[in-house]
Amino acid sequence: MTSGHSELGSHWFETMADHMGSAYLRYSFTKGTRQEVDFLVEVLNLVPGMRILDVGCGPGRHAHELASRGFLVHGIDISQSFIDVARQNAPTGATFERMDARQMSFGGEFDAAICLCQGAFGLMTAEGHDGAVLHGMRAALRDGGRVAVSAFNAYFAVKYHDAATFDADMGVSHEVTEVKSPEGDALTVDLWTGCYTPRELRLLFGASYFSVSHVFSVDPGAYRQDPPTTESSEFLVVAFASPFRREGGPSGLH
Ligand SMILES: C[S@@+](CC[C@H](N)C(=O)[O-])C[C@H]1O[C@@H](n2cnc3c(N)ncnc32)[C@H](O)[C@@H]1O
Repeated sequence: MTSGHSELGSHWFETMADHMGSAYLRYSFTKGTRQEVDFLVEVLNLVPGMRILDVGCGPGRHAHELASRGFLVHGIDISQSFIDVARQNAPTGATFERMDARQMSFGGEFDAAICLCQGAFGLMTAEGHDGAVLHGMRAALRDGGRVAVSAFNAYFAVKYHDAATFDADMGVSHEVTEVKSPEGDALTVDLWTGCYTPRELRLLFGASYFSVSHVFSVDPGAYRQDPPTTESSEFLVVAFASPFRREGGPSGLH
């Protein structure tokens, strides 16, 4: 666990992000950004000029792609190393800020929000953290605003993820693996991923003032309008922000 980030709290992912830096973008699961953004623009009905919040943006691959298509994107991430990478060569319209997604305090200024590839959601360090991320995303959206959030498929994790152990009580998968730095140095890390069923996702989103329109079965770089199955690595939730009274809304619900 890194220290030096105490004013914001810390997260186990930061150690990994500090080590990987830009080398994160060499992993194969990051190579389908364009396809993912094509899909999101279509299912979320995004129109250039809209304001989009990218939660757990990492090195900013989706934010860069969206900004290059005329959207105004603000990316937040807990890792300063990833924020530094995201700011390099950022196209006009893409801005980035270090922030803990569990403590967001936006207030209705965004038309849409995305949280992809376990960007904060599903990287739980304690029960309730994923709910706090969703509450913050809902508060960031205008009424009727839309979200796309991906989550690890619990069925798939149990069925196929042999390298990991699965905590059936918490629904968390734990894996010890290696990540590489830009120079190729390996670091052994513990990786925890919160896994979900579509039913759990609908319940959690409903409790955060979202109306879920679809849960799709997807894989990185292969987003598609398939119904939920046990065979895809991720689910993608597409939902709309239901009305709530801002003074009594999500940020007051923790
Ligand atoms: C697997 S990466 C996904 C990054 C990016 N969304 C993508 O699709 O490539 C997970 C990201 O979530 C960030 N993250 C984890 N916990 C967070 C938190 N509490 N607040 C903000 N970002 C967080 C990590 O720093 C990391 O950049």
